[in-house]
Amino acid sequence: MNHSCKIKGASKIIGALGLLMSAASVYALDLEVDASKSLTKIQPTMYGIFFEDINFAADGGLYAEMVKNRSFEFDTRMMGWKEPNSSTQSFNEQSGIANIIHTSDNKTNKNFARITINNDKGYELINEGFRGMGVKKGEKYNLSLKAANHAGDIKKIRVQLIDKDKKVLAEASISPNSPQWKNYSAQLTANATEAKAQLKLSFEGKGDIDLDMISLFPEDTWKNRKGGLRKDLVQLLYDLKPGFLRFPGGCIVEGRTLAERYQWKKTVGNVEDRESMINRWNKEFAHKPAPDYFQSFGLGFFEYFQLAEDIGASPLPILSCGIACQFNTGELVPLAELDPYVQDALDLIEFANGDLTTPWGKVRADMGHPKPFNLKMIGVGNEQWGYQYIERFKVFQAAIKAKYPEIKIVSGAGPFPEGPHFDYAQAELKKLNAELVDEHYYKDPKWFRENVTRYDNYDRSGPKIFAGEFAAQSVATVSPDNKNNWETAFSEAAFMTGLERNADVVYLTSYAPLLAHVDAWQWTPDLIWFNNLESYGSANYYVQKLFSNNKGTDLIAITNQGKPVTGQSNLFATATKDENTQEVIIKLVNTDSKPQTLSINIKGAQLKGSGTLTKLTSANLDDLNSFEKPKNIYPVDTKFNAKGDKLSVEAGAYSVNVLKLKVK
Ligand code: AHR
Repeated sequence: MNHSCKIKGASKIIGALGLLMSAASVYALDLEVDASKSLTKIQPTMYGIFFEDINFAADGGLYAEMVKNRSFEFDTRMMGWKEPNSSTQSFNEQSGIANIIHTSDNKTNKNFARITINNDKGYELINEGFRGMGVKKGEKYNLSLKAANHAGDIKKIRVQLIDKDKKVLAEASISPNSPQWKNYSAQLTANATEAKAQLKLSFEGKGDIDLDMISLFPEDTWKNRKGGLRKDLVQLLYDLKPGFLRFPGGCIVEGRTLAERYQWKKTVGNVEDRESMINRWNKEFAHKPAPDYFQSFGLGFFEYFQLAEDIGASPLPILSCGIACQFNTGELVPLAELDPYVQDALDLIEFANGDLTTPWGKVRADMGHPKPFNLKMIGVGNEQWGYQYIERFKVFQAAIKAKYPEIKIVSGAGPFPEGPHFDYAQAELKKLNAELVDEHYYKDPKWFRENVTRYDNYDRSGPKIFAGEFAAQSVATVSPDNKNNWETAFSEAAFMTGLERNADVVYLTSYAPLLAHVDAWQWTPDLIWFNNLESYGSANYYVQKLFSNNKGTDLIAITNQGKPVTGQSNLFATATKDENTQEVIIKLVNTDSKPQTLSINIKGAQLKGSGTLTKLTSANLDDLNSFEKPKNIYPVDTKFNAKGDKLSVEAGAYSVNVLKLKVK
């Protein structure tokens, strides 16, 4: 079984009945907001980010490394590299060749390339990058490599960035001068902008030279960190003001097999010692193969924690619970052999929070972060199901709570938001006093509009909800034809009013997946799309941003004729107040094809006259953002003045609106 089992048949519903209400009518609804009473606190974690290394989100994406297979560790050792004029008819004529040397098995970085230069016929070693390398005119790029002059007299390595016509975009050189491994670096400045540049190495002299960790990063990374993250992508995450950052996934945590699970300990320490591994999405979908998708772990657990800190998000790592992805092999660790997995969880808490006297706290400090990362939550397993999960979860729960009672544990409820696996998990996790349960919904847009009341009658004595992965699917789950269209975005907004209205039980929410490389994705839709030069937020991104940037501190009631606004006249609404800024925040989602005039009475507060109305809207259900039109669907702010206790506002056709009003 694989992820395609999720396809529930085509469900394209553009023009669905629910959307096409009576042709001419403009509804006029009376709403009442009661600002006198806080119904519940909105958790600071309410709106967060789900990061998974899928769609080239880490290598080739957020992690700004531009060289693919920099240390020759991919299964096909020279993948990503080519030697265009290496071979000729006879061996004597051959300009040069790269041979992979595989060293002793106890090293993590086992391979390097031995480059033999036979003559001056112009041997070239070229790296293609992650579907090219994005370089920008005037920007600087830092190259580093390890080299050892094995034999002969190779005195110079010329390093160039070239375009598809071999035009040189930047150039520098390195003078290797030692038979021992030594680090070398050079800086290149690009003379033109190019999305699909390549890195070319050529050599002066003859002989053998050993090369490893050939790496190229833009100088301009997030916070200017060397070997850091792509600035534009982190900025988009930062702008979301996320309450939490869940990492590193997703199914990547589980692995297709247990051997391929994500093991955090292998992702910390020296970057070059982190053992590369296949990415499980490499061959998940026959319709979207990505044979060059590997994990260098240059973006590892230290970097994830640091990213969370940088963007003001609470870190939420998820670990393998000893079950490989049940859509794949479903391999189980015998319960008697679960200890190392549990120990990984305990050690991770020590890595994040332990002081410098603890072994793992010291590892963190040695990596440059003596202060703790303030970890408060940890996830056990991703989309596991059945008693196999529950019996393993119990072992983790007992061990974590015994040592770290203050850490909240996130448990999984399986891949689907209903059905026998879901019901079983719910019942068992309640018995176990689970704290936070991760629910996933990959459904059609209509489902999102029709399930706005999902949590209204939820058991208030049970676990809290982590709406951990959701995204409306315009065609069908995991269909490669899914689009981030406007209908999916406003349908999610409607659903999110239901999440917010139930903030006493819903503690965390996140859209999934987060990032996708436009030339290398496996899964669509995704919140943010990027190529090697640029990135943009989808319409769904702006919905997330509107909710997250306007969450308020306290839920207050908004009603229509005494009832919550859950689809009357295709309108959905929620209201909060912000104790810090003294504002009432009203979110109005109109999923109707007609505008609606709303009159709103405010009880328990007086409007001071100043405020803003932010509108996110588009005329057609199929409308999209794109590289050509990244702001096609984009929030527009206008001043909104209303005094006293009444206001009137028009919610346009297919619109998401946020009113933020100062009150006294
Ligand atoms: O978000 C993509 C995948 O969907 C996640 O890895 C998994 O948890 C879910 O099946």
